Amino acid sequence: MADDILLELRQVNKVYGQLVKYQALFDITMKVPRGQFLALIGPSGSGKSTLLNIVGALDRPTSGEVFIQGVNLASLDDDELARFRNQFLGFIFQFHYLLPEFNALENVLIPSWIATRRKPGKEIIERAYFLLKRVGLEKEVYKKISLLSGGQQQRVAIARALLNSPTLILADEPTGALDTKTGDQVLELLAEIRKESGTTMIMVTHNRDVALRADRIIELIDGQLCKEVYPQRIGKEEAEKILEDHACNIENVNTL
Ligand SMILES: Nc1ncnc2c1ncn2[C@@H]1O[C@H](COP(=O)(O)OP(=O)(O)OP(=O)(O)O)[C@@H](O)[C@H]1O
Ligand SMILES: [Mg+2]
Repeated sequence: MADDILLELRQVNKVYGQLVKYQALFDITMKVPRGQFLALIGPSGSGKSTLLNIVGALDRPTSGEVFIQGVNLASLDDDELARFRNQFLGFIFQFHYLLPEFNALENVLIPSWIATRRKPGKEIIERAYFLLKRVGLEKEVYKKISLLSGGQQQRVAIARALLNSPTLILADEPTGALDTKTGDQVLELLAEIRKESGTTMIMVTHNRDVALRADRIIELIDGQLCKEVYPQRIGKEEAEKILEDHACNIENVNTL
């Protein structure tokens, strides 16, 4: 049987602006199988965040289609999209957008509370505790966010993203605002949790070492898919060679 495809993009284009137009993505066509850890790399301005936002239904493409679990996102209205996001997706951003006046537990619970317009029940509160414990914040559960360190805050954001057991985790430079050591710890944790649950993850990263830990690396250049590498299949060294090469290696995007 063919791989179970979780996400599919078909000729996705994104043009920003009304008067002055800027095309950030060109004909992006790709499939992501369930369970894959995909690292998205590329220079600043190459369209990584734009792509992630479209996959995460935070933004709509100008043309083309996005399917998640066979659902065409274009067929959903804004309310349905919000529900879809809450049910299937977990977001982790560079800046975690936590609420500084609330404690860690509240920060894990509030987004889902808002999205579902329902007060969290016992089960979901227990899951929030479990996740905070899992990310090593057992003692910080009731601490205000503003009193936590950067790495601790990012771990709260990870727990928040995992609350609804997302099918797809989308992470946009989740350690970009952390020092190397703390960043590595956070990534290690994320990789472990992902393995435990078999969750599909797409992570934008500038960090070559992080990308090399992924199942698959895709490089964007000027809004187009340029390279595709499977580091676990071909080995780190070979993967690095391809990444350092200037030529793109994607010839037929339709097979991606
Ligand atoms: N809202 C917007 N309006 C106009 N242009 C935009 C908008 N958002 C992004 N762009 C442009 O689209 C291009 C792609 O931006 P994007 O944020 O996706 O890049 P990126 O690869 O994530 O870069 P970085 O690594 O710096 O985060 C850039 O040239 C950017 O200036
Ligand atoms: Mg970006």
